[in-house]
Amino acid sequence: MKITEILTAEHAVFHNLFDHLEKVTPRLKTLAEVKTAAALMDAVMREHSQTEDELLIGPLEPSFEEIGQRETFHREHDLIEQNLALVQKVKQVKMARQLLLATVLMCRGHFDKEERIVFPMAERVLKAKTLSELGTQWLKRREAAMK
Ligand SMILES: [Fe+2]
Ligand SMILES: [Fe+2]
Repeated sequence: MKITEILTAEHAVFHNLFDHLEKVTPRLKTLAEVKTAAALMDAVMREHSQTEDELLIGPLEPSFEEIGQRETFHREHDLIEQNLALVQKVKQVKMARQLLLATVLMCRGHFDKEERIVFPMAERVLKAKTLSELGTQWLKRREAAMK
């Protein structure tokens, strides 16, 4: 399976998680509940972002440079992580909810950009064989993480 297909499939799962978070977060009563939701989102997103940073951004470096976006994707991954870490420090439940929901929205925008710009660029620039090899690497990472 191509890495772009795998990452797109992961996005679909995340969109479901985001739908769920958008639905339940406004009703969460305690700070602890909001923090748990943010920690869960951080744990799953981190893995996904790391995969993109390590497997996809490298081979696409020259293309990112061409469209002047080299730093953007790294920066957005960092920003998402920083926002979710910040939820853990917030003292008011209302603020924590707002920050979590704003981060969900940021993630949706980020995914959208990847689906419209980055993944099609990868499909255009990289060979089908390379995309499949990167998919195999993803599988190996996944297996190693489960051991
Ligand atoms: Fe990403
Ligand atoms: Fe992504």
